[in-house]
Amino acid sequence: MAKQAKQLSGKVAVVTGATGAVGSSLARKLVQRGVKVAMADLSQEKLDEVAASIGTPDVLPMALDVSDRVAYTRYLDEVERRLGPVDFLCNVAAIMPISAFDEERDEMSQRILDVNLGAIIFSTKDAARRMKQRGSGHIVNVASGASWLAGGGVATYCASKFGLLGYSEAVKMELRGSGVEISVVVPAVIKSDMSKGLKDVRGVRAVDPSEVADGIIRVLERPKFAEFVPPAIGVMSLGFSAVPYKLRHMLTRLSRTDLLLLQADQSKRVEYESRVASQLESPSGETDPAGEKAHV
Ligand SMILES: NC(=O)c1ccc[n+]([C@@H]2O[C@H](COP(=O)([O-])OP(=O)(O)OC[C@H]3O[C@@H](n4cnc5c(N)ncnc54)[C@H](O)[C@@H]3O)[C@@H](O)[C@H]2O)c1
Repeated sequence: MAKQAKQLSGKVAVVTGATGAVGSSLARKLVQRGVKVAMADLSQEKLDEVAASIGTPDVLPMALDVSDRVAYTRYLDEVERRLGPVDFLCNVAAIMPISAFDEERDEMSQRILDVNLGAIIFSTKDAARRMKQRGSGHIVNVASGASWLAGGGVATYCASKFGLLGYSEAVKMELRGSGVEISVVVPAVIKSDMSKGLKDVRGVRAVDPSEVADGIIRVLERPKFAEFVPPAIGVMSLGFSAVPYKLRHMLTRLSRTDLLLLQADQSKRVEYESRVASQLESPSGETDPAGEKAHV
């Protein structure tokens, strides 16, 4: 008999990337299930807009640059003070600028690692320490098909998402018996700003952000390590990585995933790419005199 779904009502969640496609959908769906949601993203103005559209006092829109680990800890403290202990940490925020690996600015390579991997490592540690004391809690890190299958044009993004997967899996082993869960949710291409200009992946449809949010809610309700959205991305990710490299690279060429991102229509990505590039000029307007940001 299938295990009964866990009740989410009355719990407290932190959702990062909460003004983005998946994060805003997730915040809305969690609130509909009776969860109090702290919404984290870079722009307070956008957070306020999304929170107003959700239209309940059960959301706490508070700006955070997830790559700033001191600010992330203060953020969790503040959420605990205002909403109560954090039951769910959903790390959705990420950036995916596209360029040839040797044309990517060093500052951008570092930024991708800080946002997509450093923030995962430091926030997972911080939240898990708090959750272990209470013997319960669940951390969900959003991975990607690019956590198993590398592709040209996003070499550093692949490094960050491979890293996120390895880190989450290792932590899962250490958390056994603690009452604290960790999962990865693995989307195929999502119809969002991040994937603007991309061609379709053969055999795997692009998904709506709400389907990914549903996948995150499914693992919160019925914990498991990896949830693939849609399931076909799991077949492709696990299947391709189970074969020898020569065959794997032939399969990625045949499925046209090898250079899919490098061949994106850049004219459709101008707005996204410039938004991500603007993060290099201190997104939150704060300085980091002690050099305490989450450099990997
Ligand atoms: N879009 C895709 O095709 C795709 C495919 C597979 C996996 N994913 C993953 O799914 C997740 C959600 O992607 P999405 O499609 O909703 O992207 P999105 O660009 O719509 O949302 C990402 C959000 O993260 C926020 N963000 C970026 N840097 C931040 C920082 N330093 N601090 C706080 N917030 C920050 C952005 O402002 C944005 O609101 C990401 O982890 C992404 O890597 C996306």
